[in-house]
Amino acid sequence: MSQSRETFGSRAAVIMALAGSAIGLGNIWRFPYIVGENGGAAFILVYIFCTLFLSLPIFLGESIIGRRSGANCRGAMERLAPGTHWKWLGYLSVLTPLVIVSYYSVIGGWSLDYLFKALSLSFVRESPDGMFGALVSSTWTPLLFHTLFLGASILIVMLGVKGGIEKFSKICLPVLFVLIVVIAVYSMTLPGAKAGVDYLLKPDFSKLTARSFVTALGQSFYSLSLGMGIIITYSSYVHKDENLLVSGVGTAVSDLLFALLAGFAIMPAVFAAGIGPASGPGLIFDTLPYIFHQMGQTMPAVSSTAAILFFVTILFAAMTSSVSLLEVGVAYLIEEKKMHRRKACGVVFGATWAVGVLCSLSFGPLSGLHLFGRGIFDFLDMFSSNFLLTVGGLLAVIFVGWKMPKTAVHDEFTNGGTLKGNLACFRFFYFILKYVAPLAVLMIFLTNFL
Ligand code: PFF
Repeated sequence: MSQSRETFGSRAAVIMALAGSAIGLGNIWRFPYIVGENGGAAFILVYIFCTLFLSLPIFLGESIIGRRSGANCRGAMERLAPGTHWKWLGYLSVLTPLVIVSYYSVIGGWSLDYLFKALSLSFVRESPDGMFGALVSSTWTPLLFHTLFLGASILIVMLGVKGGIEKFSKICLPVLFVLIVVIAVYSMTLPGAKAGVDYLLKPDFSKLTARSFVTALGQSFYSLSLGMGIIITYSSYVHKDENLLVSGVGTAVSDLLFALLAGFAIMPAVFAAGIGPASGPGLIFDTLPYIFHQMGQTMPAVSSTAAILFFVTILFAAMTSSVSLLEVGVAYLIEEKKMHRRKACGVVFGATWAVGVLCSLSFGPLSGLHLFGRGIFDFLDMFSSNFLLTVGGLLAVIFVGWKMPKTAVHDEFTNGGTLKGNLACFRFFYFILKYVAPLAVLMIFLTNFL
């Protein structure tokens, strides 16, 4: 490993950076909804199982690639499998997050716009009917906020691994947890909130199907930021003495906990307002403003405070994830193209901003432009989540399970045999990674297309 490379300063920093990447829009707008759709508490148990016994081993496999190589995704393949076709896994892992961040930052921009709306008491003063449609279909406002969101994210990346990513995550993560707990407590005390708690917790085994299992697995895969080079890149900044198993478990547990808290922050309020649950952008940008408006008619101060806290949470959660998505490309340019971090940030910003502009306009002036029957935003979202992520994840597990020498994997997992506790779990971890994880990821992939 090159001596000049930065590393995270402590175990807490590693977990906070990784958890910052994992905790994102996926936890807030997808998890609560799919829990209810798939049988509440029964699904939560399946989800915990999938996270700990399938996604976590995949996460650890990617961590092993990153720390072993001490390089960006492309460089990692060159160091661990020089001169082979595995270089394509490296390129794919650099490309995927760049595609994702292009549209993710458009959503980040919408959150920023909604934070300003909350600050100017818009939800209290006017009905949010049609507000979201008006925002996304307009030209300049979403572009401005996309630029601000992406600009702020790249500035953090520009400050470096320690001075930017680590510092930002160390501030954001605790704030995110405090905010989501405050919102959850408030939400669960609203009159009529019990129906929302039931939606999340009432175990309905009849809704639990084979498909729910793959849904749980796909969601935990997405939520842990797997298959897109992030874990490889961040783990390349993890010190050789760090226990990868402990930081992996810390990240997975934080991500799980946040998803559950987000469920209790959102669903009780949704049911208290007497509306049905939604998923995706509709939940954050239509349903919640409607609740804030309704509440604002009788308790304007409480409603405005809740709205501000909520959109700050969404913004921070999205930004710690977008920072991680951007760092993958920046690390690649610094190490493989020998660019200065500042210049690499400029290039990554320019490319993702331009694609993001097309995504943003695809709801307005460019709505007539279609790729394979979808608008640009929808196409990139579908293509990256259903195809690029799963192919990247599948290749990464095959790489660790079948290409890397078992001794090297063992060495990273146990820090050269010194971590006695990890020695005991190695066989289990390796078995899952080698035989079960490839089949599991293949199942997610196939289900996406069936
Ligand atoms: N894990 C983050 C989330 O759940 O939002 C970040 C992320 C993962 C973003 C996968 C986008 C994505 F396709």
